[in-house]
Amino acid sequence: MKIQPANALNGTIRLPGDKSISHRAAIFASLAEGETRIENYATSADCASTLECLRNLGVKIKQENSTVFVKGVGKNGFTKPAQKLDCGNSGTTMRLLAGVLAGQNFDSVLVGDESLSKRPMRRIIEPLTQMGAKIESANGCAPLRISGVNPLRAMTYKMPVASAQVKSCVLLAGLNAGGKTEVQNPPSQTQNPTSRNHTELMLRYLGAHIEESFSEAENGFIQKISITGNSKLTAVNLVVPSDVSSAAFFIVAASCLQNSEVTLENVGLNPTRTAIIEVLQSLGADIGICNQKEICREIIGDIAVRRREKFAPKVVFNVIDGDIIANLIDEIPILAVFGTQLENGLEIRGAAELRVKESDRIAAVVENLRRMNATVEEFPDGLRVGKSDLKGAVVDSFGDHRITMSLAIAALFAEGETEISGAESAGVSFPEFFQTLEDLRK
Ligand code: S3P
Repeated sequence: MKIQPANALNGTIRLPGDKSISHRAAIFASLAEGETRIENYATSADCASTLECLRNLGVKIKQENSTVFVKGVGKNGFTKPAQKLDCGNSGTTMRLLAGVLAGQNFDSVLVGDESLSKRPMRRIIEPLTQMGAKIESANGCAPLRISGVNPLRAMTYKMPVASAQVKSCVLLAGLNAGGKTEVQNPPSQTQNPTSRNHTELMLRYLGAHIEESFSEAENGFIQKISITGNSKLTAVNLVVPSDVSSAAFFIVAASCLQNSEVTLENVGLNPTRTAIIEVLQSLGADIGICNQKEICREIIGDIAVRRREKFAPKVVFNVIDGDIIANLIDEIPILAVFGTQLENGLEIRGAAELRVKESDRIAAVVENLRRMNATVEEFPDGLRVGKSDLKGAVVDSFGDHRITMSLAIAALFAEGETEISGAESAGVSFPEFFQTLEDLRK
């Protein structure tokens, strides 16, 4: 994919459905009793993997454009799959389904593509094993061979990392456990959820008994989330907000390119996902939010981004670190690109989790931004970018959708053409990305 620099982006757009919420909508609707209509289901390849796995577990699913109809089978109504369940590139599919399959009375195998087969699965194998499931893996990685048990043993699990996928996996297993299963987050400095909370919100919306609390510990606040094993899910129609993580690419572009004005409609504004907006605003971006409302327990609204004058970022020493990292984990590559436009650059720390995403995102950003003439320093848990005059280059997505899209935005700020190899990976979360970018250039 070849990208030319841009003068400005302008227009009003409605982005596809949120990837995280779509996965949950499809899985929870399958676990529910009754039929669910899901509107604005993500067009992402990852979310298609989830639907395919659920079909292979005996769930009847129909799709008409972005509307998905799911005939729920109840939490124990799945059938033993005739084949391996292919999660493709999707960590969320694998980790959430593992939680469901651990509590089914049959064996199943979860597989993934080359990237997913390298990602750490011990983080879910350990709690699920403690709950009584038997899981064989290839040294802590997929393929995962799961021998389910019903009921599982309820337990309290202290997560070593603030991961929404691990939290969701354990809570889903807890749906098939006898008693109350509790997940504890690592300590945080505030009483805000440390990772995205779509699972808690949606499970409760569908009728599960979920409790949340914070307790004060020596080194901060511990968030505790529990589910009762006798919870039953009841089908309720769902509407998926547009994906704020996809919006982030255009927010950054329109924040920096003079004479831009972009409005993104009906975007999910769950506070556990909007740290990117707060950070960009604090660094000088002109971002307004309006028409906020609640839909299926999630907040949505329109995001308006403007850049009339030349971008004049606030001159502050910019370090992003601590609890906020988990709430903008997927936006860090594009935030690093934004950093190249800041007077004092930007340092991002406490983000070692990025090394085990679809690619090693720290290494991928460092390597590619350097190729584009940026000054970048690499740390084990992050990076520092200096203000840079970006130059077009041949760059490599490392097969990672968020790296592809971040580089495409960097290319808009660069001098000369940028060529991205493996750019088709954008389809993993946002197949319409390049078309949308073209539409906004006009
Ligand atoms: C996701 C959680 C995050 C995120 C991923 C989607 C989810 O991962 O990076 O893209 O839908 O739960 P972790 O929970 O592992 O941090």
